[in-house]
Amino acid sequence: MMMAKKQDVRTPTYNLVVVGLSGTEKEKGQCGVGKSCLCNRFVRPSADDFYLDHTSVLSTSDFGGRVVNNDHFLFWGEAGRTMEEGPECRMNVVEQTEFIDDQTFQPHRSTALQPYIKRAASTKLASAEKLMYFCTDQLGLEQDFEQKQMPEGKLMVDGFLLCVDVSRGMNRSFEDQMKFVTNLYNQLAKTKKPVVLVLTKCDEGVERYIKDSHTFALAKKNLQVVETSARSNVNVDLAFLTLVQLIDKSRGKPKIIPYFEALKQQ
Ligand code: GTP
Ligand code: MG
Repeated sequence: MMMAKKQDVRTPTYNLVVVGLSGTEKEKGQCGVGKSCLCNRFVRPSADDFYLDHTSVLSTSDFGGRVVNNDHFLFWGEAGRTMEEGPECRMNVVEQTEFIDDQTFQPHRSTALQPYIKRAASTKLASAEKLMYFCTDQLGLEQDFEQKQMPEGKLMVDGFLLCVDVSRGMNRSFEDQMKFVTNLYNQLAKTKKPVVLVLTKCDEGVERYIKDSHTFALAKKNLQVVETSARSNVNVDLAFLTLVQLIDKSRGKPKIIPYFEALKQQ
């Protein structure tokens, strides 16, 4: 009689990257599209650990510290969730942004000086001894916070959350954002990795922008849309778990719920 094979009990871990319009104030307007807040709400959802302010304008020394580590991406840490059907899964979360020098207001120089759209679509991330990011106050005071390293100093990317800010925004036009998002989407599509379109700031969402985002997604095959608000903590888990399901089709599909319905269910 054959012995039953020992079951593999390791929890699968997915490496998920959050991307969206980034750059200087000229490109992104006075405030970001909500990448950091989305990551924060997902990895540390409790009110005490959630911050709305995650500035990308940094001094040279903060850019060179072990959290930013001279990269234009942040390692937000690991989060675990159990999905309705199937076992627990764990997710490493990375944000691809562009850090701006607080003296010159130009992007900080790093070794790999590629434009954001190319860099954000990379599927292999490496950064030796890079520390997990918590909040702006941590920069320069790394020793006062838990020091958790990005595992093995490298990550193979499994999928992307492409953010679209559907709020009114500040001195930035929605049309300009969508031009950027279109170019970014085209780069992401080349990787053949799954992408979810994440509408951010739906608590202040403009109806026409939400509609236009859905129209954009409909024109791309397999592009699912999740309407979120990090501030109100609505549909944030749904966005990440929808991506995990696209990466691992054996998992049950989470039901996509529009923002206002999800808000009512809270
Ligand atoms: P950069 O990394 O600098 O490109 O920005 P980002 O995309 O990470 O944006 P961030 O998450 O820092 O959000 C920028 C600002 O948008 C925050 O400081 C908040 O004021 C606002 N914001 C973020 N999420 C929400 C949200 O869910 N609702 C509302 N109303 N505002 C939000
Ligand atoms: Mg950010």
